[in-house]
Amino acid sequence: MRILVLGGDGYLGWPTALHLSEVGHEVAVADNFARRGYDFEMGVDSLTPIEPLQTRLRAWQELTGRSIGAYIGDLCHADFTYEMISGFEPDAIVHYAEQRAAPYSMVDRKHAVYTQTNNVVGTLNVLYAIAEINPDIHLVKLGTMGEYGTPNIDIEEGWLEIEHKGRRDRVLFPKRPGSFYHLSKVHDSHNIEFACRIWGIRATDLNQGVVYGQQTPETGRDDRLATRYDYDAVFGTVLNRFVIQSVLGKPLTVYGNGSQTRGLIDIRDTVRCIQLACEHPADRGEFRVYNQMTQAMSVQQIAETVAAASPDAVVIEHLENPRVELENHHYNVVHTGLVELGLQPHLLSDTLIESLFGITKRYAHRVRPEALLPTVQWRKTASRISD
Ligand SMILES: NC(=O)c1ccc[n+]([C@@H]2O[C@H](COP(=O)([O-])OP(=O)(O)OC[C@H]3O[C@@H](n4cnc5c(N)ncnc54)[C@H](O)[C@@H]3O)[C@@H](O)[C@H]2O)c1
Repeated sequence: MRILVLGGDGYLGWPTALHLSEVGHEVAVADNFARRGYDFEMGVDSLTPIEPLQTRLRAWQELTGRSIGAYIGDLCHADFTYEMISGFEPDAIVHYAEQRAAPYSMVDRKHAVYTQTNNVVGTLNVLYAIAEINPDIHLVKLGTMGEYGTPNIDIEEGWLEIEHKGRRDRVLFPKRPGSFYHLSKVHDSHNIEFACRIWGIRATDLNQGVVYGQQTPETGRDDRLATRYDYDAVFGTVLNRFVIQSVLGKPLTVYGNGSQTRGLIDIRDTVRCIQLACEHPADRGEFRVYNQMTQAMSVQQIAETVAAASPDAVVIEHLENPRVELENHHYNVVHTGLVELGLQPHLLSDTLIESLFGITKRYAHRVRPEALLPTVQWRKTASRISD
């Protein structure tokens, strides 16, 4: 298949592009390097050094003889998006290219507006381009488990059968997300479902859990193929951040009492899920939703698991929660769709955590300790105009 990976310079997009190329697909990536820009803005960096995209692509070609194409530009610029899609003629588009940090979207009005504009407008341009250039293209769009929030009922895969006043219907599962970033994903999902319904395009919306891990078989082949490994309080996902805190001998910072429960997934399963979704496309007109997570754990359990795997003594510290979220809540998620397509999940293991300790120790000298503590508050304390 010809597969275009939007956001192909990012934490997940880059390993996905390599994996799809490895299994024999014709791959191109697209990126505007916004993510590298947020690092400069926030004064943080990936713990692992990451090479410029061109170096990464050359290294892959040198090691495997396979080339991956590159389109540099912003999805919010419709001309760029249309030219790229008509030029590459993809069978599937994997769409990762969004601002993906909840704290970044909650910094202030400017960051909330940027996040929603970037994410919603970029996706709308992709939808229009598919509908006008080739409605057969399968859109595989990354959403997040955070779209659902923590409802007091089981979370189904995207759709809910309801009975109301004696009548039945199948509706999109109600969403109650916890940040302007997560809301941008909800808006995307509604736009994509609408596009499937009115234009007959095909889409798979993947509500992904929190990703952990840093290596896939492909990125592990050479340092030049490494993907990002973020540890800061804005972009660092929780398990990766705890591993880094434990290697540095810093307390693991659990927000609130830590009973908040979230869906998790290993980065090796992320790339495999994308392969499965691409190779088994949704039907024309179908808005297919999968919950892309393999297990659920509370933040406290994640901290205890990392602490138990650490060779050194580790302290778990409870900080006042900067987010506004329920702590003790119901969390039971259906996530069988991808397993039915063939996913064999890697569950969180000591071996994985030990390999993360190895990577972290190797690059511990690059840590900026001031970046570990939360600076973004969900609650409004004073009104301020900020741009
Ligand atoms: N990392 C996780 O734990 C996680 C969990 C659930 C869902 N997701 C979703 O998966 C996707 C990828 O996440 P990630 O962690 O790899 O993020 P990332 O920030 O590392 O990668 C996103 C990439 O998209 C690019 N991008 C952003 N806006 C763009 C635009 N307008 N035009 C072109 N390129 C643009 C960025 O430069 C970046 O390289 C995101 O949509 C995110 O919401 C991630």
